[in-house]
Amino acid sequence: MEKIVNLCKRRGFIFPSAEIYGGFRSTYDYGPLGALMLRNVKEAWWLSMVQLRDDVVGLDAAILSSPRIWEASGHLKNFTDPLVECRKCHERSRADKIDGKCPACGSEDLTEAKRFNLMFKTHAGPVEDEGAVAYLRPETAQGMFVNFAAVLNTSRKKPPFGIAQMGKSFRNEITPQNFVFRTREFEQMEMEFFVPPEESPKWYEYWCNERFQWYVDLGIAKDRLRLRPHSAEELSHYSSGTSDVEFLFPWGWDELEGIANRTDYDLLAHTAVSGEPLEFFDQATSVRYVPHVIEPAAGATRTMMAFLIDAYEEDEVAGERRVVLRLDPRLAPYKVAVLPLSKHVDLVPVAREVLAKLQPLFMCELDVTQSIGRRYRRQDEIGTPWCVTVDFETLSDRAVTVRDRDTTEQVRVGIDGLVAELAGRYRG
Ligand code: GAP
Repeated sequence: MEKIVNLCKRRGFIFPSAEIYGGFRSTYDYGPLGALMLRNVKEAWWLSMVQLRDDVVGLDAAILSSPRIWEASGHLKNFTDPLVECRKCHERSRADKIDGKCPACGSEDLTEAKRFNLMFKTHAGPVEDEGAVAYLRPETAQGMFVNFAAVLNTSRKKPPFGIAQMGKSFRNEITPQNFVFRTREFEQMEMEFFVPPEESPKWYEYWCNERFQWYVDLGIAKDRLRLRPHSAEELSHYSSGTSDVEFLFPWGWDELEGIANRTDYDLLAHTAVSGEPLEFFDQATSVRYVPHVIEPAAGATRTMMAFLIDAYEEDEVAGERRVVLRLDPRLAPYKVAVLPLSKHVDLVPVAREVLAKLQPLFMCELDVTQSIGRRYRRQDEIGTPWCVTVDFETLSDRAVTVRDRDTTEQVRVGIDGLVAELAGRYRG
């Protein structure tokens, strides 16, 4: 973990937030490489969940919305963790995560557990009274439920169909931990799949398999992934069945994503509080019903960290130790680094010409300083799959060297055929 945290900071993936002010309570900022990679994780999810399907549509709902949403969904009442305080050192902890002892000082003198609501409370507008109370959303899911009728009426979809959304969620976690694994501000990628009630077992199984396979397809080793069904005591207040996709983190197996059968809990709950019937009328059969919902709910920030951990390797190239991130090219921040052999005035303009050809297709980096060997090492360490080197021969033969991150193999490719060559490699 320490190696990953260091690499993230040193290379510009993830920085502690507000470090010039001493940081801010387990909060992180995504640097130039992290912003690119997080985007790539989300784009890979959107591609598979929305773009490549004809039964899922997208949504981008408000983060601040009516507090009645959280009343109806049960979050105001049930979205709590058991909080205990150590009477000796006053450390606060989640009772369900400790073994009867304070994790800070080891004392067993703890207060009784009280229920602590995880939603961040604020006020909308200039008056800070009870009527202006609003909450930052603790999950993106409710946006899909409250827009169910609007989407149904405008999208020409009918069950089975899904609504997908990615975006920020906020939870006032008692103990944020393990770098970006558990933070108070994070990103989720969630989809609510509305189905005829009798089809829900079939779709639950379908989405468990689909979601597991998504991580495998993006390169995570199968022996570091597992699908674990929840026990009855673990189930959330809305779920009749949940399975987690878990990853073998350095501290053990832990959750990347939950796939839940939320039944008709949410649509009925919002119908009861809003008075709006949230149901589907099937004109073909004249049957009216409240769909059941299968929800694959993943964390984008947490998943990005798992991809980084899984991709991290140390090996040797020509007797020299190197760190390499074997990221799938779709997730790598830069796909191609363009490297003139030196800063020579004749080489840099050609490197810029090559860069301009590649940029419309690929996120590229132009790197001109340091020895070529050190620049290769740097690109290996940030996961760039291909380096393109412009050397003095390029000036006469109009060809460049393409180096592969994983094999370190180098081949000569004409500048005119470079885009096609790299596009072919990218598609795999
Ligand atoms: N709508 C259902 C839902 O929100 P969840 O299991 O609480 O379910 C889904 O959250 C995913 O969101 C988790 O599997 C995890 O990847 C991510 N997540 C939840 N809380 C998080 C936190 N505090 N920090 C980072 N990611 C978090």
